[in-house]
Amino acid sequence: MRQPLVAGNWKLNGSLESVSALVSGIRAQMSIVRDTEVAVCPPFIYLQHVRQLLKGSEISLGAQDCSDQAEGAYTGEVSASMIREFGCTYVIVGHSERRHIYGESDAFVAAKFAQVRDNNLIPILCVGETLEEREQEQTEAVIARQLDAVLKHSGIGAFGNAIIAYEPVWAIGTGKTATPGQAQQVHAFVRSRLKEQDERVSGLIRILYGGSMKPENAGALMQEEDIDGGLIGGASLKAEDFIAITTA
Ligand code: 13P
Repeated sequence: MRQPLVAGNWKLNGSLESVSALVSGIRAQMSIVRDTEVAVCPPFIYLQHVRQLLKGSEISLGAQDCSDQAEGAYTGEVSASMIREFGCTYVIVGHSERRHIYGESDAFVAAKFAQVRDNNLIPILCVGETLEEREQEQTEAVIARQLDAVLKHSGIGAFGNAIIAYEPVWAIGTGKTATPGQAQQVHAFVRSRLKEQDERVSGLIRILYGGSMKPENAGALMQEEDIDGGLIGGASLKAEDFIAITTA
């Protein structure tokens, strides 16, 4: 059985004050969450603060990104080993905002994935197609390319302790969600791609859906066989909505 995971990606949002309020709101409602793992991914600068606020709770902590380098003269970067020191479990890599706004290539994302794994953290590898790619029926080709770059770099074994998030770019922050059928189709494709290399790994890996997931649509999405949780942007900034998704 794959335990569902619902992770909040706070992106570039928050202040010391609002982050504190958000965590206390989530903690206050955690008693109604059953059998679902919950994680939050604040901006780097708030990791230590949020770590303190999460003490004694079951909520996991994650970072939104990390450097492709281990250490050295790379101004502005944050390494996976630093992230590990601050009590994180997860690191998101290859989010579409990194790929599309900051030009991160498949190979660059694969190097980050390897850094995360090398530091005993769990990568949440994001994959997903743009609207144009979907309209040109390139969805599976794009996802295969994004997965294969990581497989080539780290091998199938590295997916034994990793998470994949399918985030169609056209659904992120747009209010347009993939239908449960559309999402399931891609999730099944991801699993089958991994199954070609290792059946056990493909059966165990958790594949999250991300892209305008809300309390109203989370239940139907999570009922699909290959959808094992969600990576939540906008709705993770409101404790009530976030918790409602975890209980959907
Ligand atoms: P939204 O939930 O705001 O669409 O963002 C999804 C996302 O990008 C999570 O990583």
